[in-house]
Amino acid sequence: MQLNTPKFVNHPKLIAWVEEIAKLTKPANIEWCDGSETEYNRLIQQMISNGTMQTLNEEKHPGSYLANSDPSDVARVEDRTFICSNNKEDAGATNNWEDPTIMRGKLSKLFDGCMTGRTMYIVPFSMGPLGSHIAHIGIEITDSPYVVVSMRKMARMGKAVYDVLGTNGHFIPCVHSVGMPLLSNEKDVAWPCNKEKYIVHYPETREIWSFGSGYGGNALLGKKCLALRIASVMGREQGWLAEHMLILGITNPKGKKHYIAAAFPSACGKTNFAMLIPPKEYNGWKIETVGDDIAWIKPSEDGQLYAINPEAGFFGVAPGTNTKTNPNCMATLHKDVIYTNVAVSDTGEVWWEGLTKEAPNNLTNWKGQPHQNGEKAAHPNARFTVAASQCPSIDADWENPAGVPISAFIFGGRRADTIPLVSEAFDWVDGVYKAATMGSETTAAAVGQQGIVRRDPFAMLPFTGYNMADYFDHWLQIGEELHAKAKTHGNQPPKIFNVNWFRRDEQGNFIWPGFGQNMRVLEWIINRCDGQANATETPIGLVPEYEDINWAGSDFSIEQFEQVTNLDQDQWVQELESHYALFEKLGGRLPKALLERQELLLEKFKEDIYA
Ligand code: OXD
Ligand code: MN
Repeated sequence: MQLNTPKFVNHPKLIAWVEEIAKLTKPANIEWCDGSETEYNRLIQQMISNGTMQTLNEEKHPGSYLANSDPSDVARVEDRTFICSNNKEDAGATNNWEDPTIMRGKLSKLFDGCMTGRTMYIVPFSMGPLGSHIAHIGIEITDSPYVVVSMRKMARMGKAVYDVLGTNGHFIPCVHSVGMPLLSNEKDVAWPCNKEKYIVHYPETREIWSFGSGYGGNALLGKKCLALRIASVMGREQGWLAEHMLILGITNPKGKKHYIAAAFPSACGKTNFAMLIPPKEYNGWKIETVGDDIAWIKPSEDGQLYAINPEAGFFGVAPGTNTKTNPNCMATLHKDVIYTNVAVSDTGEVWWEGLTKEAPNNLTNWKGQPHQNGEKAAHPNARFTVAASQCPSIDADWENPAGVPISAFIFGGRRADTIPLVSEAFDWVDGVYKAATMGSETTAAAVGQQGIVRRDPFAMLPFTGYNMADYFDHWLQIGEELHAKAKTHGNQPPKIFNVNWFRRDEQGNFIWPGFGQNMRVLEWIINRCDGQANATETPIGLVPEYEDINWAGSDFSIEQFEQVTNLDQDQWVQELESHYALFEKLGGRLPKALLERQELLLEKFKEDIYA
């Protein structure tokens, strides 16, 4: 096998690793990607000719393409995702674990010859602005051209990464294969993948191996695998945070700007929230987008947290996105988009549930068949992949290597009842408790049953690369560090809030209008940070009364407000008691402070009930 190492790669360790992987996977060709437009266009054309991609209406969707996946390969596979730390305890009860030696044995069999007949691409990428001290470099080896073109949108990908790496710079090795060797007498399928899937992380050696899937969250290894699972391990060791959070900037009419970071589980509206357009009565207010999915957050010497978005693009959920729910997103999608698993009209225009009220006639569904009424035209987890720079609300500092200063954290789950619209934690420990015990209904972003409430601590259940109890402890320690620095430098740690946009009435309808209207809650949050809004103490935190929220231009009534904020005593006692199940599962390493907080909350709540 000819390595054909190009002149721009001068890193002996990297070349030796590529050679080793080539020997194992036995590809027909090797291509060192340079990230150029010529390369991108060539791969797109190649995928059009073999049926992986199709062109769209050039006038409506310039430079955009559609790829529909194998119907079995549409989402993250959490039960096939492994954290293979040396000790099982270090992966913890919420992760799948396998002994690394056993896993390496399994994978070396699976990867042996798995790229036969295919091209092996070497994809250099930086998570975070190229050359920034906060950024980290990865090299993904993949046999999927869909992964190559998607990585070019989602990360800083290309030749310049090698300049930063030099002859011995550190990189995170990522190996990906769709797991479908192609024999010379066989015709390739449009979306090769394997029934058997493995998404494997070795946290100690910081390696990622992914087999059998071409779906973004399983295959674009810079995203969930590197920027969350591996980065969370690095963050714990080095004193920073890798979080499943959007970052937005909010400027008030006086020109004062705050940044907030907000965690929601997958497919719970992070992209919409990050690109929110305030209601028209919010004259002079502005929301700007730094990121929609991942935040890397580091404390400075003087105790201020700074966040960067390590990604360069959005891999967002299409269904439900439209000119009302997210006009900024629709504008972002005006050109150069890779769509996956959406439907297409006979005029080459994309469509998904919620884009317009009615589906157009003559629609082809995501499986390539004529759309039938009553069936989904797009897969519920259909996605768009697009460069963040195309977003009209992108923040001027979104690529600032120093990051943006964070004033508040928001945590939000998808809950039909129990959890109020918004509450502020009493203090950092209480905020960590709230985030740690957050529950949310499952969505189509992961394979499995949907709509079931599960505990999703910090919206990181599928993404924490180590023991969840240690992760809670890491958050508590960051809090202690910030409080200690606050004494000498005066920077207050961010306040922590909990939100729930998803309360439902008895008929199952959402009560809170959400989307742009979330601005009203954001304003209260920002004003709380500035010490300029009232809050009332309840057993579960500080909450606004109806009159503490700005309702200009809204007809949301006091009765409806009561419906989205009321604290049902029975539901709450049940909720708090149900946290035991999570704590029990996490076992001995759970920080005592959280158990104590639970007892305190339960006591306070019961006192309040029976007072
Ligand atoms: C995502 C996810 O794709 O969380 O961002 O699943
Ligand atoms: Mn996500």
